[in-house]
Amino acid sequence: MKIIKILKYVLILAVSVSVLLTVIFYISTEYKMYDLKANQKNYSQNIWEINTDSLAESLISKMTLEEKIDQMYGEKMIFSIPKFIGSYLFKDRFAHIYVGKNERLNIPPWVLSDGPRGARVLDKKINAVTTFPVAMARAASWDTNLENKVHKVIAKEMRANKTNYAATPCINLLRHPGWGRAQETYGEDPWLLGEFGLAAVKGIESHNVMACPKHFALNSVENSRWVIDVLIDERALREVYLPHFKKVIQKGKPASIMSAYNKVRGTYSGSNKELLTEILRDDWGFEGFISTDWMYGLYDGIEGIKAGLNVEMPWQDEYSYNTIKEGIEEKKISENDIDKLVLNTLKTRLKYAFAYDSIDYPHSIILDSSHINLAAKVAEESMVLIKNKNNVLPFNKIFGSKIGIVGRLANEINTGDLGSSNSKPPYVITPFEGLKLYHKSLNNEVLLIDESNVEEIRNVSKSVEQMIVVVGYTYEDEGEYILSRSEMVKSAEANELIGVKGIGGDRVNLRLKPEDEKLIDEVSQLNDNVVVVYVGGSAIDMSPWEDKVNAILFSWYSGMEGGNSLAKILYGDVNPSGKLPFTIAKNQYDYPYFNPYTDSITYEYYHGYTLFEKFNKEIAYPFGYGKSYTDFKYSNLKIEKNKILDSTLVVNVDIMNIGNFAGKEITQLYIGFKNSKIDRPIKLLRDFKKNFLDIGERKTINLSVNINDLKWYNKKSRKWEIEDIEYEIYVGGSSKEKDLLSSKFRLSQHIQHNTF
Ligand code: BGC
Repeated sequence: MKIIKILKYVLILAVSVSVLLTVIFYISTEYKMYDLKANQKNYSQNIWEINTDSLAESLISKMTLEEKIDQMYGEKMIFSIPKFIGSYLFKDRFAHIYVGKNERLNIPPWVLSDGPRGARVLDKKINAVTTFPVAMARAASWDTNLENKVHKVIAKEMRANKTNYAATPCINLLRHPGWGRAQETYGEDPWLLGEFGLAAVKGIESHNVMACPKHFALNSVENSRWVIDVLIDERALREVYLPHFKKVIQKGKPASIMSAYNKVRGTYSGSNKELLTEILRDDWGFEGFISTDWMYGLYDGIEGIKAGLNVEMPWQDEYSYNTIKEGIEEKKISENDIDKLVLNTLKTRLKYAFAYDSIDYPHSIILDSSHINLAAKVAEESMVLIKNKNNVLPFNKIFGSKIGIVGRLANEINTGDLGSSNSKPPYVITPFEGLKLYHKSLNNEVLLIDESNVEEIRNVSKSVEQMIVVVGYTYEDEGEYILSRSEMVKSAEANELIGVKGIGGDRVNLRLKPEDEKLIDEVSQLNDNVVVVYVGGSAIDMSPWEDKVNAILFSWYSGMEGGNSLAKILYGDVNPSGKLPFTIAKNQYDYPYFNPYTDSITYEYYHGYTLFEKFNKEIAYPFGYGKSYTDFKYSNLKIEKNKILDSTLVVNVDIMNIGNFAGKEITQLYIGFKNSKIDRPIKLLRDFKKNFLDIGERKTINLSVNINDLKWYNKKSRKWEIEDIEYEIYVGGSSKEKDLLSSKFRLSQHIQHNTF
């Protein structure tokens, strides 16, 4: 009898689970897809000629309070959770979440897609998209035109996948290289971050996709991201952690911005009035809409409304009808507050829904050969040659020879984190495959060595012409960190990891894995022609092994074409031209204090090269550093006509390619503040350009700096101020003093006449 009873329960349970899974399967695969553009049939004039600002105002006047609230969250949980889970479970894809649809008033919805390295949300008939090298790699190219092109492609592929809101670029500053999501951003320097963020936003918006720079603000510790409180002084905030956001907002005018998970000075970013209203809207004039980061982005609906947060993502939770209605009844907020928030959103998004599209976005544009070629080009431009003793590289192209390749990552599909920045390529050329393809025409044999077979490693290393050792990380070692919030709280409160670490997250130790270091050690003793290829998203500590090898190349997570680009660089078909977007310390503990498990951290004024220079700390490799197969000589640094035109200081410098390879050089301009009467960095990056120079070619390069970009933030007067001092100007191939020419200038006249 008892057995029958148990069987009955098991049966009921099995039937319920199957019904549930079937429902989830059905919802996730059959969910309705909506058009994101306004329907021309509803209007008598061309939709792109309609004044969408007036339309937004009139639509709001027709909305009930509930309809207004419906503009303030992603989807209702009951629809989106099964769709979301099912899409992951059954289709390994990220679902379309339709936000703000109102059929009565003909308002089309908008749909978010992540996409730091390729469109994330895929149309139901699409299985793959173009996958680029990660953002940190692209930053190492120092080529903002390329970044703009990358985002034009990502935006086109997003449109073809029926999405129109890009949760990218990520422009959080790399305060410490151990940050788990370092690969998603553009490095340690606010200027570089701002220029890259701007190029990305302009690229995205050129296809009527709403850009959403993220995460606002101070989000650069991963393992405590849902709980950490970032404490910061006003000057560090304004001068170091926000300038890139300000530039991207004011010059790029993105449709939106995403708040961060962390607290800033005691208040969660999603309901932080100082950040969202006082700085973003009142100081910087932001006119778009603010959405939360997902899941734990908002804890109190009323506080969110008071702070000026427009949209809660991805589903309705704190912005519930009851919370808002009660808030209005209890006079904590007013309906006018709601109107203002909805108006920001509607005005912005209707512009895109009604905009004229100069092209169609059929599925056939996805993975166009020009997109794939661009992914290859970006990988070529971004790899950084760190060391090349005795000119080991480029390797000789010997016909009929044997080449060895070894390492955990030598034949691994490894395009970076599998969290929200994931992108699905149709194929990935691994380092081994790239080399094999490259050597086919040379009739060479590329031997993939099993890294666990010591005997084989020894034998092959001794006998081959060249050895390539591929080491570094995967999504398991660094990336987005997902676990329950309560688990995160436990570790943060204890100031150490409680329980099992899990996948991704921050790197506490910057050294490679012991097995990687051991492998390098082993191979380097047996062969002189060894190159260590590092795959990862940020700085590492190479001190235990860098003296043992002659050549080191940072190849990053190099996208779907990375293996081909790697082969071209190793054999000199492409001359490496990337430079580091961060400083590599000599001693990894010289970076600012970093603890992934904490509920509070202070971000100081100095980090990156400003820290190492100010406090005379020795470094291994400077910010802006990268070798080439050729050499460049700088001369004739001149401040143009010794005068400042239109508040801009123009500088000329000559560069000559004095080596035997054609190549590209990234020229950097820094302004020095040694004479400052206040505490300021030794110098700051203010311009850069990448130029191609043929063998023996000489070019005069123009660089410039706007006088406003010399200012500092006076927290007493709460104003940006300029100092009447003699400034230094440095121009050259890296941030290291010996790589820079220098000159001096004063601005007294301009300051007195207020001509800037
Ligand atoms: C990430 C965001 C991302 C969002 C949607 C969040 O967990 O922090 O960067 O845009 O998920 O995928």
